[in-house]
Amino acid sequence: MLPVGNPAIGNDFINREKEISLILSFLEKDSVLLIAPRRFGKTSIMRKLEKELSDRGEICVFLEVENVNSPHLFLSEIIMALIENEKLEQKTKLIPAFKKGFNWFKENIEEIGISVFKAKLRGNIQKDLESNWMDISKQVFDIIEEAESSIYFIIDEFPIAIEKMNQKDGEEFLHWFRKLRQISVNLRFIVGGSVSIDRVVREVGGMAVINDFARVRIGGFTRKIALDLIEKVFEEEDWEYETPLGDKILECIGENYIPYFIAIMLSAIKEEKILRGGKINAELIENIYNFRILGNEGKHYFEHYYRRLRINYESFEEKAAKAILKKVCEVDYYSIDLAYDIYKQQTAIDNYEQFKDLLANLSNDFYIEDYHENKLNFHSKILKDWWRIYHGGVE
Ligand SMILES: Nc1ncnc2c1ncn2[C@@H]1O[C@H](COP(=O)(O)OP(=O)(O)OP(=O)(O)O)[C@@H](O)[C@H]1O
Ligand SMILES: [Mg+2]
Repeated sequence: MLPVGNPAIGNDFINREKEISLILSFLEKDSVLLIAPRRFGKTSIMRKLEKELSDRGEICVFLEVENVNSPHLFLSEIIMALIENEKLEQKTKLIPAFKKGFNWFKENIEEIGISVFKAKLRGNIQKDLESNWMDISKQVFDIIEEAESSIYFIIDEFPIAIEKMNQKDGEEFLHWFRKLRQISVNLRFIVGGSVSIDRVVREVGGMAVINDFARVRIGGFTRKIALDLIEKVFEEEDWEYETPLGDKILECIGENYIPYFIAIMLSAIKEEKILRGGKINAELIENIYNFRILGNEGKHYFEHYYRRLRINYESFEEKAAKAILKKVCEVDYYSIDLAYDIYKQQTAIDNYEQFKDLLANLSNDFYIEDYHENKLNFHSKILKDWWRIYHGGVE
């Protein structure tokens, strides 16, 4: 059975060959930004890349920076992850250079138990960087550049860390990071996260601070991959599989076929089988979708989308966005002209460019799909179904 929420690794990780090879080919020249909504499988892809690169003998460090809220903590995490990487010692002379250049390894802390050692080391690095992160990190990266080996940094939840920094720190850090990528030929960064980086940098530093990244958009699974995955799990669980069952599951989830929701559906089926036994049929699948996915399990997931409008949008935009989405969820497509009427009504602003900015944000944050032919629709069927139940309503 697939994990429901944790990254899919090892045998659970399926497909994504195209995305992986695209990312690897970009990495020859550029750093890479992964763009995808929540739960589409970014971390799983990042973990897979970490494995592929490490298997090739590359130095590759993975860090999750969700709890980082300042440049000095960010850099401490990078340095710490690097020092902990086994290949660093085998392939480079960086550790002796760090020992020589900095006071981090003082007090014979190597001799103490390994976890105490790590905690002390991390503490020493943080203290050092806190006093003057820009100068010290320059010294650090001057040393790293001497490594004569490529180093790959995979950084998950990057936009959240930037969002948590105060405005000044965030700007300084993004400019510094941009410059680092420019001058360091042996470093590559693969950066991703579950909130829109474009929106975050628009407030802090502007698009120029990330315009060098090659962008890779991660979509849902194709229909074929999704069906194969469902069949694979049915086989593993020893459940009888027929194509109409796979079709039914996908009919409920709808496009985009989001890996996480396939996993939730399958695990809910498993729970049903354990608790009540019996045969899996279309009716059971439909009930699971309506009462679990759109009920309890989905609530926690989708509330985030609703709440985020208050947190991340100006209040006049939040008001307009909610009024527009309330209409869009009720129909197949909603006309942009009607949406503009709502915008004007709600905000008392008659400015088409500002209205288009709001639509662009809603599209970047994966509420609506990239609109064409003047028609609006939700990005995913599930979010649309959920919105209709909890926030819809035709007046
Ligand atoms: N390649 C894959 N193969 C199989 N299942 C997958 C794959 N990618 C994602 N999943 C499913 O989706 C779930 C979420 O995956 P993952 O944590 O990688 O997504 P994410 O985009 O990083 O999520 P978040 O936005 O919350 O950080 C996994 O628990 C798994 O059920
Ligand atoms: Mg993730």
